[in-house]
Amino acid sequence: MSFIVAIDGPAGSGKGTIASRVAKKFDLFYLDTGAMYRCVTLKLIKDNIDFTDTKKIKKALEDIKIDFKKVDGEEKVFLDDEDVTKTIREEKVAKNVSQVSHIPEVRIAMVDLQRKICSKRDSVLEGRDIGTNVFPDASIKIYLDASVDERVRRRVKQNKKNGIEMSEEDIRENIIFRDKNDKESEIAPLKQADDAIYVDTTKYPTRINVNRVAKLVKKARKKYNRMQNAYIMTEETTIKKVKRKIVKCFLAGLYHIAFRVKRKGVENIKSDEGIIICANHLNYLDAAGIVLLNKRPITFVAKNDLYRIRSLSWLAHLFNIIPVKRNSSDVASLKLCLKALKNKEALGIFPEGTRNGMKKNAEVKNGAAFLAYKSKSKIVPVGVKGTFKPFSKVIFNYGEPIDVNKFKSDNPDWMNDATNYIMDRIRELSK
Ligand code: DC
Repeated sequence: MSFIVAIDGPAGSGKGTIASRVAKKFDLFYLDTGAMYRCVTLKLIKDNIDFTDTKKIKKALEDIKIDFKKVDGEEKVFLDDEDVTKTIREEKVAKNVSQVSHIPEVRIAMVDLQRKICSKRDSVLEGRDIGTNVFPDASIKIYLDASVDERVRRRVKQNKKNGIEMSEEDIRENIIFRDKNDKESEIAPLKQADDAIYVDTTKYPTRINVNRVAKLVKKARKKYNRMQNAYIMTEETTIKKVKRKIVKCFLAGLYHIAFRVKRKGVENIKSDEGIIICANHLNYLDAAGIVLLNKRPITFVAKNDLYRIRSLSWLAHLFNIIPVKRNSSDVASLKLCLKALKNKEALGIFPEGTRNGMKKNAEVKNGAAFLAYKSKSKIVPVGVKGTFKPFSKVIFNYGEPIDVNKFKSDNPDWMNDATNYIMDRIRELSK
């Protein structure tokens, strides 16, 4: 997915100014989603379409053309090729836009369009439901807010600048009405997403507020870039190999000081073929034990969050750790796993998906069995035992390789049977 900055908040919270300036600063595409709902409202008013006439609204949505273009350095909004930048801010639109934006057909069409416009370009979107609905997986979500008094003051100033006549009283009424309507709406209500950062803009001038948000975006951009790079395995240069050897030697030494390690059945992973090592997951240090204490290089699959932390990201690249997005199919990750197996590497996977998954009754996915089947590799089950307290005993019990093909049958659930067998073996080996 592209780099998406989702900025939500009520009218007058500073979204427009902050979002457009931040977009400019980071060279991102800027999308004012409120302007899109305003365009639809204007079109319905112009074409004399009743807000309850679903049939006509649907037709209008099929024909509508909304464009954002820069003219003489200024952002302009076009509705059916007509410059409506100013018109969509007028009272007749302002009064009706909240109602129109909550018509289900309008909502579906606009959200679709917003996703289409931004899913392939790095963008800043501002609106009411960007972080909660349009892009729930946005790279960063910011919820802007300000007191009602301050928001009225800003709108009065903005209207004056744009030559729009509206009394302060009417503006206040409109803002309070829209807040209520937007927050209480059944469809995509205005609310802060659980993972959004709350920024109160009341007390600060625009310049400071832009800088506050820009700082957050800069940090998110760095994280995003790190995540993007995670899926690009760094080249196996001689320097990288030497570095890995030194780091591995050093960390393995520390491991032996920290724990009394016992390993059984290590010969089971000594083959020239690609294999998948499947272990139970008790602690982050069990993966380290499997990677560091074996001569054979082992490429582990780990959740992509690892790459969000700079120091761990460095180690992850050094040891070629394959990132995987949790709870979603991650095609890029699967491809990397298959490539590693094709290159006759040893791949490390925790089928439980999470630490102590077996104890927590976590759903075990068929990823390992699927990869083994696709690459014609065998699975080596490993049972890990230990508390991982300093100087305690830690046991790695490597079992005999399993061929998942012997489970293949006409039964579409055969992969579940293979996975269950692998888990049973891991259970036995970790007793
Ligand atoms: O941001 P604005 O004031 O231009 O928005 C106009 C209206 O559109 C506002 O009443 C809320 C609605 N809107 C929405 O429901 N969802 C969005 N993503 C953006 C705006």
